Order: sequence, then C-alpha cells, then structure tokens
Amino acid sequence: MAERIPDEVIDRIRHSIDIVDVVSDYVQLKKQGRNYFGLCPFHGESTPSFSVAPEKQIYHCFGCGAGGNAFSFVMEMEGLTFLEAVKRLADKIGIPIQLPTYQPQSSIHKPANKMIEAHELLKKFYHHLLVNTKEGQKAFDYLIQRGFTAEMIEEFEVGYALESWDFAMKFLTKRGFSPDEMEQAGLLVKRDSDGGYFDRFRNRIMFPIYDLQGKTIAFSGRILGEGQPKYLNSPETVLFNKSKTIYNFHRAKKHIRKNQEAILFEGFADVISAFKAGCENGIATMGTALTDEQAKIIRRNVESVIVCYDSDEAGIEAAHKATHTLNAAGCYVKVATMPKGYDPDEYIQQFGAEKFRQEVVEASLTLMSFKMQYLRRGKNLQNEAERMQYIDEVLKEIGSLPKAVERDHYLRQLSEEFSISLEALKQQYQIYRFEKKKKDNAHWNRNNIARQSASQTKLLPAYQNAERILLSYMLKDQHLALRVQDMIGGSFNIEEHRALAAYLYGFYEEGHESNISLFVEYLPEKKLVHLVSELAMMSINEELSEQALNDYVQQVLNHPKWLTIKEKEKDKQEAERRKDYVKAASIAMEILQLKKVLK
Ligand code: CTP
Ligand code: MN
Repeated sequence: MAERIPDEVIDRIRHSIDIVDVVSDYVQLKKQGRNYFGLCPFHGESTPSFSVAPEKQIYHCFGCGAGGNAFSFVMEMEGLTFLEAVKRLADKIGIPIQLPTYQPQSSIHKPANKMIEAHELLKKFYHHLLVNTKEGQKAFDYLIQRGFTAEMIEEFEVGYALESWDFAMKFLTKRGFSPDEMEQAGLLVKRDSDGGYFDRFRNRIMFPIYDLQGKTIAFSGRILGEGQPKYLNSPETVLFNKSKTIYNFHRAKKHIRKNQEAILFEGFADVISAFKAGCENGIATMGTALTDEQAKIIRRNVESVIVCYDSDEAGIEAAHKATHTLNAAGCYVKVATMPKGYDPDEYIQQFGAEKFRQEVVEASLTLMSFKMQYLRRGKNLQNEAERMQYIDEVLKEIGSLPKAVERDHYLRQLSEEFSISLEALKQQYQIYRFEKKKKDNAHWNRNNIARQSASQTKLLPAYQNAERILLSYMLKDQHLALRVQDMIGGSFNIEEHRALAAYLYGFYEEGHESNISLFVEYLPEKKLVHLVSELAMMSINEELSEQALNDYVQQVLNHPKWLTIKEKEKDKQEAERRKDYVKAASIAMEILQLKKVLK
C-alpha cells in the first residue's frame, strides 16, 4: 500500500470534485441566485438555511454555523478523517487511490471497520450459498415461488444462511475476525453455559441491511415459510441503529431525486417487490414505527412522500402515525391504499405491476382524504350520533389545513355528502379554526423571537463588523490581504479574527492565490473553518474602495484607543466622586488628547 497520498493526487481530486454534487448526495438543494440552498444536515430545521457556493466551493449554514469545503463536509457528515474523506470523494469520481497503511487517529474506530468488513464478506458468501449451492436450493425455490426473480435476488444481494450452528463462526474466525467482536457485531451469539459462540442466523433467507451510503451493517433473516420469528434481525450494534436506518435508501436516492418523491413501505419485501414493479424510489423502516430521525433524513432529500403501508388495521394505524411524523418533519404527504388485507407485495403478486403503479401509487389519497377514511373506520354513519361525531372530527382536521382553497374544497365535499348546509358547517368549523390560529400565533411568536435573537447576534459593534468585512475581502483577494497585513498586521481585536488573519497571511506567503476551499484545509480548528465559511458567504460589494478600506482599518486600530478612553472616563468619574478635581481635570485633558488622535 502507498505510504501517503501524493499532494498532486489530492489536488486533482479537489479540482475534479464539485461541492454541489457532493452535498447533493445528502441534501436536496435548490438553486437561488448564485448559490444553492437546502435543509441543514447538521441540525434540525424546517426552513433552509444551509447554503452551498459553487464558485467558492464551500458550504455554510446560517443556522448552526457549520461550514467548510467538500472534504470537510464529508468528514463532518460521516465522521471521517481527512484522508478517509479524500478516499471517499476519489471513489465517487473514479480516481483510484489507496489510503496509507498507517493512518493516525482514524475517527471511524477500527472495530466498526472490522464489523463492516465481516458483514460485507458474509453477505457475499450467503448470496453465493443461495444462488450456487445445493444447500441453498430450498431457499432459492421458496423465494421464486414467492415471486422473487433471479434479478431481484442479485440486485438486493439476498442470501441464505446454512442450517448450522457454527458456519459463520468458522467462516469469520478463519479470516481473523475475533469472535468477541463478531458477537458485538450481532453476527454471533455467546453461549451462557460454556462461553462459546454460535451463529445468530441459521437456516434463514438473508437480507442485507445497508446504511445510508450502502455499506452492509446488519441482516434480517426470514424463516423459510411459516414459523416464528418470521424475521430475525441483527440486534442494535455500533453499526446498526434501527431508528436511523432506512432500508434501500442508498439505492433509491437517485430515483427519489428524479421523481421528487419517495414511497415509504413497512417492510423490505414490499420495497423489493415495488422495485421490480418499476417503483424504484421505495424505502422502508425496519419493521418499527417511523422515527423523527428517519423522517428528517427523508425530508432532507425530498419533500413529497407517499406512505404505502399494509391495509390491515395495524397498517392503517401505523400509516396514520407515519403521516404525522412526516408532516412534522415538513414533508408533503400522500397515502396509497389497497383493498383490505393486502400488503404491497401481495398486491403486486396478485394484480401485477401496472395495476400497482396506476391504482395504488398514482391513485394515492391526499392526506385529508386519507384522514377522512381513517376517521370513518368503525363508525356507522347511518347512526346519527356517530355521523355527527365523524363530521365533527373531520371539521377539526379541515380547520387545521393551511390553505383556504383546500379548506373550502373539503367543506363543500362534506356538505354535499351529508346534505348539511355549508353555512352550518362553517359556523362549527370557525371554532376549530380559531383554536388553530391561537396555536399558530403562539408558535409564530416563539419562532419570531428565536429569529430576532439570531439576527441580533449579527448586530455587532462597528469594529467587529469592520474586522469581519476586512477578513471577507482578504479571503477573496490576496493583494488586499497583504495590504491589510501592512496596515493592521496582527492587531485584530477579536481573538479568532487575529488567528484567522495569521493563517491567511501565512497561506498567501506560501505563494497561494485566493482559494477559500483550499485555505480551510490549513486551519487547525473547526471553529475557524466555520468562521471562514460564514465570512465567505457574507454579501459584500465586488470592489472595496480606498475610502472604505481606510475606514475599516481605522475602526480596527481605533478600538483599543476607545477602550482606553472608556477606562479613563471611569477614572475621571471616580476622581470626581472622591472630589479630587485636580486629578479629574488632568484626566479630562488626557481624554481630550486621545480623542483628538481618533478624529
Ligand atoms: N418484521 C420484523 N420482525 C418480525 C416481523 C416483521 O422485523 N417478526 C419487520 C420486517 O422488516 C418486515 C416488516 O416488519 O419486512 C413488515 O412485517 P410484515 O408485514 O409482517 O412482513 P412482510 O413485509 O409482509 O414480509 P413477508 O411478506 O415475508 O411476510
Ligand atoms: Mn408480505
């Protein structure tokens, strides 16, 4: 292996990579003017304050202050070291490189790497057993009889775990994996009686579970035919966090982007079936309720989501919950429904791909229609009391709709269906509308206060603003930076500004031209990188006039003098209080002198 990655190679990667592409793998970006905006992946938010500047090849979040270049983005997103991030991006654009054998302080700690390696190896072997061996024949037949095709088995890397207590155990230890570590990876189980290890997955169809980037981090093993448990999953491990895992996300991502829509299923059998049926933007949770974290990940990538769950009682309840969670994350939600009792997989088996696409996916209900159906369940609308209850519940939902046209539409629908005058409905509904408004106002006020205080932190004292503006010009123009070096040198008043200026002078002295994205790699602290990205995103005029330059420089240089004057003024007041008028007069003279210099 290589000793180190040559600088030329890193440079080549730096030049070939586009930060918009890199960020787009994680965040849905929209172009606005010169820059792109999206929801910040580093903190939760529902209005985009995360921006990417293609010209400067940097990103910055106005909300949380995160920022940097393509490498630091991947480092922060994935918890990688610089070299690991370089490797990741090199792979992305197809430049072959090898990481140095010795990597100091790798932040992905080694056991996790080993665990992933074990999963990847086992995945391949399970797959081989399923498709190429006599032992796997029964499992293969079961899958085919269930409607799986050979292509689907390939695409989703489905495999088979032998009916053996120690197959994986031997397979892994022979390759140098420690049983203890493999137990922590969830692949082996420790026996209480003698402390020995045995395979967790035996005689099961193995579905690899991937993380958001497509690395195999867990398995779900289905029993062949009937039996309990139907699916045996890897336990929670360092690698596998169910509440953050979204099945098939890495594969579906580009289709989600293209269609501007994701389809959320309950199980991976559904995802695989739907994929075959031509719905390639399908994802699923791991058999658990959709979490806020998962919803946020989805929202960062797409706004519109179709929830397509089983159409049994449990499925409908779960769908109802999922719509709430998605809504709260800022998604626009639709719900696909099927005849009672079907799940998407079974529906596709029975009615075919085209019917699934047309009559289930494309016929998805708006959230409101779904809620109306949901509220209707178990009610006998012939019964007046139940009917009234239903209407009341629907009115409440209508009251919470954000758009007037929508509210009007559903009010009319309700009025027609139950032959109730629109007037009467509106009267009742105004009450709910009022309650909703009260809630919104409280919410709005809270938000507004947060926003105000955020912008107030930007209402900075003049000298501080002057330093920021100077630095942001210096980042863009090496000649100006060298002039400022002559005029101010290290006399910036804010410590971070002083540090940044020092690094910038050094960077230019090494012969670099202005290159913000490169410069951030020279900074030893994340805090400074974030500051650079923030300053680089400040909107300043193209040109800095001589007059303005001198003014800013003066403000910076004068600030310590103002501080002295303030001190003296305090001294003077103190002297006056002590009735030491001579002293006070002499201090007043000093102050006058100091102020004269400032003017
Ligand atoms: N699940 C699980 N453990 C179980 C049952 C289900 O983890 N004992 C998860 C699986 O991820 C499964 C999802 O919940 O995909 C949905 O469960 P279910 O609808 O029962 O399974 P199906 O997806 O219909 O699977 P199959 O068609 O193979 O029965
Ligand atoms: Mn099923």
